[in-house]
Amino acid sequence: MSSLLDNIVSLAKRRGFVYQSAEIYGGLNGIYDFGHLGVLLKRNIRDAWVQSIFTTNSNILFIEGAQLGPHAMWEASGHTKNFSDPMVDCTNCKRRFRVDDIDTSAACSSCGKKAAWTAERQFQLMFQTNVGATADSGSIAYLRPETAQSIFVNFKNMMATNRVKIPFGIAQIGKAFRNEITPKQFLFRMREFEQMELEWFCKPDQVDKFFPMWVDSRRAFYEHLGINMDRIKLRQHDQKELAHYSSRTTDIEYEFPFGLKELEGIADRGDFDLKQHSKHSGKELSVYDDETKTSYTPHVIESSVGVDRLFLTLLCDAYAQDTIGGEERTVLKFSPRIAPIKAAFLPLSKKLSEPMQKIYHDIAAAGYMVEFDESGSIGKRYRRQDEIGTPLCFTYDFDSMQNNDVTVRNRDTTKQERIAIDRILEYLRKDHIA
Ligand code: GAP
Repeated sequence: MSSLLDNIVSLAKRRGFVYQSAEIYGGLNGIYDFGHLGVLLKRNIRDAWVQSIFTTNSNILFIEGAQLGPHAMWEASGHTKNFSDPMVDCTNCKRRFRVDDIDTSAACSSCGKKAAWTAERQFQLMFQTNVGATADSGSIAYLRPETAQSIFVNFKNMMATNRVKIPFGIAQIGKAFRNEITPKQFLFRMREFEQMELEWFCKPDQVDKFFPMWVDSRRAFYEHLGINMDRIKLRQHDQKELAHYSSRTTDIEYEFPFGLKELEGIADRGDFDLKQHSKHSGKELSVYDDETKTSYTPHVIESSVGVDRLFLTLLCDAYAQDTIGGEERTVLKFSPRIAPIKAAFLPLSKKLSEPMQKIYHDIAAAGYMVEFDESGSIGKRYRRQDEIGTPLCFTYDFDSMQNNDVTVRNRDTTKQERIAIDRILEYLRKDHIA
């Protein structure tokens, strides 16, 4: 693991963004809990995503599907057959590896011994369980490995109950589960994670128009979040790496500390899913075209990104260490749009807490996620806020009482200016916080 990633993992824990799940019991590999700042950051990510897809096209409906699905559904979707990774074991230390994660001609990275691998076999990534009191083949269910399927199986319900016409989209944010052989790189490859998926239903001859539109719009989303666009790359999948449902996929990749890796995938799923579900369930999932007076199965363009993977991207992108006035600091240069805390309110002395508390409560009541901090030197308090990415700090000092003003300090430039107290909201709204 790179030292930059080590620093990010340690900051994420120290400041309460992310904890190893059930840590006091030794934890579960690839599974995490999110603390206060993590929850706030995730909420901002979800909100920004909803706003972004809706701005691209407002003909979008939302759904929240169940996390457990019946065997028949996952059979139809192709997941029981195809959703697996090739795996080998080291015969010396018995450790298991995803074949594409290792060099099988080199020594085992776990025990260091000359490699002697078992034959390659497929490992099913879905978590299987049984629903109800009888554990037989009829009660088998799976935790969903992608949120998309509940969109496809509800396609007709959603169309009928919302009176929409093709083209339109169905979007979902929710948990997905994969029993990854080797979870790794912190939030990059987890076993329980969250996806934001949009399935865009259109006529077959509209795919060539909408596919590039969604790729452009999704790229613009990352620019809007303030991500360094030099670290973002688009990459088209070649034929042999395409998922079983896709005929064309463009990945949006990010230059993580451990390499250029997929952040989001945009796939042309064609009519694969609706046709499969129609065939397996016996239910008609085609639509009638008023113009041509014929029925057809809509084609689907999918955009899919992990909330947690984007969370990690934002942490990596924002993390910086610099020197201010001869003192080293760690700072998260989050865009104000996604910063978990928008501003901090700091009385210079505890004697000034009361008037500063009042200002803080007024700004919180106006809907801003803000913090009040009166303990420690002002320098220490600035550093604490820099480390969690708070864009602005307002300080109330002894002059504030006379002049009805405060000092506002910018996180990135550390420049300070004085503004009237009754201008704070306007300052947050207009100039700095979207
Ligand atoms: N419905 C399509 C689909 O699930 P995918 O490429 O397997 O496609 C989509 O996953 C996105 O979900 C990825 O680009 C990534 O952002 C996120 N993702 C997938 N597996 C993940 C994992 N194990 N941990 C964290 N995020 C993951």
